[in-house]
Amino acid sequence: MEKTMKKLSISHLCCFLLCIFSIFASTRSTPSHNYTDALTKSLLYFEAQRSGRLPYSQRVTWRDNSGLTDGLEQGVDLVGGYYDAGDHVKFGLPMAFTVTMLSWSIIEYGEYIAVAGELDHAVEAVKWGTDYFIKAHTSANVLWAEVGDGYTDHYCWQRPEDMTTSRQAYKVDENNPGSDVAGETAAAMAAASIVFRKTNPRYSRLLLRHAQQLFEFGDKYRGKYDENMGVVKNYYTSVSGYNDELLWAAMWLYKATDNHRYLSYVIDNADLFGGIGWSITEFSWDVKFAGIQVLASQLLIKEKHLKHKNMLEQYQSKAEYYICSCLGKNNGTKNNVGFTTGGLIYIRQWNNMQYVSSGAFLTMVYSDLLHKWNRKMLKCDLGYVTPQELLQFSKYQVDYILGSNPLNMSYLVGFGPKFPTRVHHRGASIGSYRENKGFIGCTEGYDNWYGSSDPNPNVVFGALVGGPDHKDEFFDKRGNFMQTEACTYNTAPLVGIFAKLNYLEETILHASY
Ligand SMILES: *[C@@H]1O[C@H](CO)[C@@H](O)[C@H](O)[C@H]1NC(C)=O
Ligand SMILES: *[C@@H]1O[C@H](CO)[C@@H](O)[C@H](O)[C@H]1NC(C)=O
Ligand SMILES: *[C@@H]1O[C@H](CO)[C@@H](O)[C@H](O)[C@H]1NC(C)=O
Repeated sequence: MEKTMKKLSISHLCCFLLCIFSIFASTRSTPSHNYTDALTKSLLYFEAQRSGRLPYSQRVTWRDNSGLTDGLEQGVDLVGGYYDAGDHVKFGLPMAFTVTMLSWSIIEYGEYIAVAGELDHAVEAVKWGTDYFIKAHTSANVLWAEVGDGYTDHYCWQRPEDMTTSRQAYKVDENNPGSDVAGETAAAMAAASIVFRKTNPRYSRLLLRHAQQLFEFGDKYRGKYDENMGVVKNYYTSVSGYNDELLWAAMWLYKATDNHRYLSYVIDNADLFGGIGWSITEFSWDVKFAGIQVLASQLLIKEKHLKHKNMLEQYQSKAEYYICSCLGKNNGTKNNVGFTTGGLIYIRQWNNMQYVSSGAFLTMVYSDLLHKWNRKMLKCDLGYVTPQELLQFSKYQVDYILGSNPLNMSYLVGFGPKFPTRVHHRGASIGSYRENKGFIGCTEGYDNWYGSSDPNPNVVFGALVGGPDHKDEFFDKRGNFMQTEACTYNTAPLVGIFAKLNYLEETILHASY
C-alpha cells in the first residue's frame, strides 16, 4: 500500500480522490451511511452466535453459556464455535466459509478495520472459529463436521441456553471422506494463519499445520461430505462438489506459505477442477470458483508468477466474467446476476442477501486490484467499466442493505431507524436467559414466543437477514425464514467492506480541508 502510494504522482492522487469524492458526493440516489457504526455492529453479531462458554469480555449480554456437552457422547470436546443462523446446529462447511471470509476481510482491509478501532474484535471473531476447528480436527484424517442435526433442532424453538435437542457430533474420515468440508476448513485455517502471523506466530503456525493436514486429507480421500455424512443433506449439501474447495484451499495455503507446491496444484488442476472452465454468477458457502479466480488474478501483480501467466490469465478472465455479471454487463440475461427493481443483486428468494454481500466484496476487491495495476478499464461484453464504477456498485449494494432502498429498511439488524424486528432467530425471539433462567421447553418456545407479533425481545445487532424479494418487498415475520433469517456467512464479507467505505469517507472529509 505504501509503495503504491509513493509511486502515484500528485495528479494521480488528486484524480483518485476526485473520483472517490464523486462517488460519495454526487450520487443522490445512494446517500452514505455511518459505516463505523455498521462495522461495530457487524462484529457484535458473531458474539451473538457464539456457542460454548462465553468469556468475560462478551458484549452481547443477553446470551449465556450453551452447548457445553457438545461432542461428549462421541468422546470429543466440541464445545465452542458458531451457531449457523437462527437455529443451533453447528454446520462445519458454512462455519468454515464464514471464517475464511472474515479472514479475507482482515487480510484485505485490516488497516481500515484498525483505523475504526475494531481490529481486535474482528480478530476475536476469527479466533472463536479457529479455536473450534482445532478441537474438531482430532487427528490427521478426522474432522468433526457437524454438531446437532437440522431435523431435531428445527423441531424445537428454544434458547441455546435451554437446548434439549440432540447434540450428536458427526465426522468425516478416511472411510467417509468429505473433501469439501475438509478443503473449506483448510482454507479457513490457512487464511486465519495469515491474520495471526505477526501478532501470534505460534498460533499462526499451529493453524497452518492443521490447514496443511486437512488439505492432504481432503485431496487424498476424495468424496462429497453430504454423501458420507447424510445428516447434512437438505441443509448444506455441497451442490458444486469439492473441486472448488480443493482449489480454494490450495490457493489460501499458497498465500499463507508461499510454497510453490500449492500454486502448482492450482495451476495443474485448473482445467480438470473447473477453475477456468465454469462461468458462474454466484459466490457462496457452496460455490467458491469466483473467489478462487479473484485470488488468482491478484497473483498476476507479482513478477515471480509470470511463468504461470497463461493459466492465471484464464482464471482472471473468469473472474472478470463474474465481475461483469454483477454489473449486468455480460451479453445475455443468463450470463448476469438478477436484480430487484431497486437494483439489488438477486439470485434466489431464500437468503438472497448472502449473494449481495459476497458480490459486493468481490467487486470491491477487484476495483482495488484494477487500481493497483493502474488499469483504467475492465472490458465486459456490453462495454467498459472503470474501477470507480466497481467501487460505486459495491457501495450501492451496501447502501441498499443499510437502508437506501424502496422500503427505507436496513437489512442489517439494529442499524438505523428501521430494521427487521422479528428476525427468525431462536435466542433473540425469546426473553434473555440471563434475566429469566426458568426453563423453556422444546415446543414451549413455539407456543409462547414464535407466533407472537411483538418484536423480538433481543436485538441481534449486525445480523444480515435474507432480505427482500425481487420486487424489493419484505415481510417482517418470524415465520418468513426465507427473508428474516440471518446466517453468519452473510455478515462476514461486510466486515471488510464497511471498513473500506468508512476509510474512504474519512479520506474525503480530510481531503475537503
Ligand atoms: C457513527 O456511529 C458511531 C457509533 O457507532 C458514533 O459514535 C458516531 O458519532 C457516528 N458518526 C456520525 C457522523 O454520526
Ligand atoms: C450478444 O449476443 C447476441 C446473440 O448471440 C449477438 O447477436 C450480439 O451481437 C451480442 N452482442 C454483443 C454486444 O456482443
Ligand atoms: C422512504 O424515504 C423517502 C425519503 O425520505 C420517502 O419519500 C419515502 O416515502 C419513504 N418510503 C417508505 C416506504 O417509507
